[in-house]
Amino acid sequence: MLEMIKHEFEKAKIMLDKHDYVRIYAHYDADGISGAAIVSIALMRMGKKVHVSFLKGLNESFEPEDLTIFVDMGSGYPEKISEIKEDVIIVDHHFPVGRIEKENLAHINPHLAGIDGSFEMSASATAYFFAEYLGNNYDLTALALIGIIGDKQKLRGGNLEVVKRGLERGYLERREGLKMISGKVREVLLYSTEPFLNFYGNEDELDKFLEEVSVDGEKEFDELGKEEESRLANGIAIRLLKMNCYPGIFEDVFGEKFYLKNELIKNSIMLSEVVNACGRKSANSIAFAICMRDESYLEKAVSLWREFQEELLEEVVKRIEEVKEGFCIRYLIMEDAPTTGPIASILSRYIFSDKPFIAINVKKSGEVKVSARGNEKLAEKVNLGEVMRKAAEKVGGSGGGHSVAAGANINSDKVEEFLKEVDRLCCSSLS
Ligand code: C5P
Ligand code: C5P
Repeated sequence: MLEMIKHEFEKAKIMLDKHDYVRIYAHYDADGISGAAIVSIALMRMGKKVHVSFLKGLNESFEPEDLTIFVDMGSGYPEKISEIKEDVIIVDHHFPVGRIEKENLAHINPHLAGIDGSFEMSASATAYFFAEYLGNNYDLTALALIGIIGDKQKLRGGNLEVVKRGLERGYLERREGLKMISGKVREVLLYSTEPFLNFYGNEDELDKFLEEVSVDGEKEFDELGKEEESRLANGIAIRLLKMNCYPGIFEDVFGEKFYLKNELIKNSIMLSEVVNACGRKSANSIAFAICMRDESYLEKAVSLWREFQEELLEEVVKRIEEVKEGFCIRYLIMEDAPTTGPIASILSRYIFSDKPFIAINVKKSGEVKVSARGNEKLAEKVNLGEVMRKAAEKVGGSGGGHSVAAGANINSDKVEEFLKEVDRLCCSSLS
């Protein structure tokens, strides 16, 4: 895998041979956190010391050291990387923008090897191939799944290769069925955000639903019989169809799911959600500790996950009515919402899937966080990463990301101008 950029791996190895201590900066979502854990474990197994920090993006301040590794970030911000004098390794899956003017750089990115990193290789999977190059690290295939799932990627290309290796060596186990979290059935349905089923705050409907599919809500989801799971799957499919979700959702909800032999949480979907929630709630070190298999943080991590799900679902339900329509986009303006990207993901995937979806979160501090989401069909025409980059630059902010999921940071007095430009760019791509 990644044969086309073998020279970048070799360059990275030469850099690593020069340094005993490595500074790691990673993105604060499930993909960045699991990617950072994979790189850290691989380096520690080589006897290196590591210091890991998490960033919301490269617009936050960071201190490069003699050797710095960026995980799940870097490729989209060439000017930031070019400014660094010391050795740098980038392990990222964002589309490389512009040119990085830097000799002492190893750039490990699937796009440079002809693989679409937006869908077919997460940062964690890229980190896994780096770890595989560095040593016997096959067990880290399980951690790579956390990022693949967290970034809503497809089991194709590089991601599929990771899973194959994990299955062959017994670190992953495959089961067929509903790809959902673990717990009592009633709780799983209530707290589920992937898929979003709109039962939160709607508990009478949930009880009626359970009665109709004739499944005991107190049973453990992972212990359901084949018949019961199939009745539940039918009920969920009908509910999703009525909600007008993006049709591509069905392959994300029904099919193969993976259990992890050595991790603290065996259900890969649940583990990915817990890591993501801790990251989003600024408990990055707890999320990282879970990836490093430190059991003492498990209870805290799961309680943070529940809190995050409650806040997220409350927001989503409340915001549905507030979504507005432009010419070629749908958008939502929020004030100081607890999170941005996850709200945009749910609304765009399950309710407003016809046009690119833009969520604007105006923080009390005056900063504005923007999350843009599309789907694979829209991404054939509109590259949201490009749209965010160009529209943000026009208003003096910064933006970027993938064709299907992107973001920006702008000033609060520029929201209207920014949205107008985003709408214009989307219209010109769609026409
Ligand atoms: O920086 P990074 O690539 O990790 O972030 C991508 C983000 O976009 C993730 O939080 C992921 O959940 C989200 N996403 C999405 N829908 C997709 C693909 C990614 O909401 N189809
Ligand atoms: O924050 P959010 O989950 O919406 O980010 C979606 C994607 O956009 C991520 O891959 C993130 O790295 C990217 N992004 C970016 N520049 C920004 C904000 C987000 O490249 N200013």
